[in-house]
Amino acid sequence: MLAEIVAVALWTMLPAYIPNNAAVLFGGGPPIDGGRTYGGTRILGDGKTWRGTAAGTLAGIAVALGLNAVNGPVAAATGIDLPTFPLLAAVALAFGAMLGDILASLIKRRSGRARGASFPGLDQLDFVVASLLLAFLLAPAWASAVFTLPVILAIVVVTPVLHLVTNGIAYLLGLKNEPY
Ligand code: CTP
Ligand code: MG
Repeated sequence: MLAEIVAVALWTMLPAYIPNNAAVLFGGGPPIDGGRTYGGTRILGDGKTWRGTAAGTLAGIAVALGLNAVNGPVAAATGIDLPTFPLLAAVALAFGAMLGDILASLIKRRSGRARGASFPGLDQLDFVVASLLLAFLLAPAWASAVFTLPVILAIVVVTPVLHLVTNGIAYLLGLKNEPY
């Protein structure tokens, strides 16, 4: 059933969705690249900080543990079999999301895009691809059981929509400089 697949996709990816928003809220301070440049442009830029990355990763892990705690009641109420997150899976999803976002900034800077410039497609899916890959790498048995082809398809379709909506809201609230 489609609704069930989308529900599982959203539930499973929540620990990967939250890190970006937590990084926006709690980020700042020294940049990861330490201000270093390569060929005249910053390696990552001031938008990727140690504090934002740590806060995002911890927030994602906390969300996964929170979902584990309410899994029973939610599954009982909805009748949907929702996955629980082993710690390694939680770490992979949360840190993978931050890593994907950092790699995207690396690609953006190398391709001459200034901090905050948009890169349609990359902006919406960087963290999904990286968190999925890291989950398959760190928790292979869990990932292959949870991320079936229909679930992956649902994630790829629903995530960009969700990303645009949450970033649009963050922009309207003045939390983010660009709506993407
Ligand atoms: N942020 C952070 N650390 C991260 C990711 C994000 O501190 N690892 C914070 C920064 O304050 C950043 C904001 O969240 O400005 C928004 O994140 P993002 O849109 O990813 O960064 P940009 O500033 O747009 O920079 P870039 O062009 O490199 O994506
Ligand atoms: Mg940005």
